[in-house]
Amino acid sequence: MTMRAPDSELPIVLDAVRYGVGRLTILDGISLSFNPGAPTVLIGPNGSGKTTLLRVAMGLLAPNSGRVTWGGRAQISPERRAIVFQRPAMLRRTVEANIEYALSSAGIARSEWRARTDELLKLVGLTGFGGRPARRLSGGEQQRLALARALARDPQVLFLDEPTASLDPAATKAIEDVIQAVAGRGIKVVLSTHDFGEARRLAGEIVLLHRGRVIECTPAVEFFTEPKTNEARQFVAGELLL
Ligand SMILES: Nc1ncnc2c1ncn2[C@@H]1O[C@H](COP(=O)(O)OP(=O)(O)O)[C@@H](O)[C@H]1O
Ligand SMILES: [Mg+2]
Repeated sequence: MTMRAPDSELPIVLDAVRYGVGRLTILDGISLSFNPGAPTVLIGPNGSGKTTLLRVAMGLLAPNSGRVTWGGRAQISPERRAIVFQRPAMLRRTVEANIEYALSSAGIARSEWRARTDELLKLVGLTGFGGRPARRLSGGEQQRLALARALARDPQVLFLDEPTASLDPAATKAIEDVIQAVAGRGIKVVLSTHDFGEARRLAGEIVLLHRGRVIECTPAVEFFTEPKTNEARQFVAGELLL
């Protein structure tokens, strides 16, 4: 009998990816890889291509040229990848029902829902919230529920698009704690932010995007202590990068 290694999503490799709409180039020849380990943080000003890059890496958008591979394969069904969009839509149901819907979509047996729901609520700090209407939750709580739903399919890779945008410091801290717990479980987190402090707190590796190009891709420690490019220096100095 031959044993086949279980399919892995990682590394995710983008090779000379170009993505455009009409005559507009949004991603302009991006080559990089997402590897197992601490979170990769995409930073860059508004409009630099962060959201588009996350969608391409998730497999939701196909590049116009160049290619993307997941664990060495060009196309595998995204069962072990998950993405949380910037403004996640909640079902008009309870918190618990939102998670059960995600478990059901992930093909988890109904007999496991109870235990998995409790575990997920605990992981995101929403124990006791199961019976509440999801749309009545605060912004930060909704974002944590969205994280729980994304984790329902037990992903190897989790993409988060500006998960703390428009949250206050306490809600931001709660989200960042969840992200750290998730990363601690060995899930590869790739998140975008335009918040410098957040990048500093979470990143193992930084990808600086500017006008659809990768300006720097470097361990976070180096990025903050000795940025190599002018753009990175500007960004670290808190100057507006346009
Ligand atoms: N479907 C689209 N059609 C036209 N322009 C788009 C589309 N998607 C993104 N863009 C443009 O591409 C640029 C990059 O967008 P985006 O990836 O959302 O950047 P970011 O997330 O860094 O703000 C922006 O100027 C945006 O307006
Ligand atoms: Mg965006």
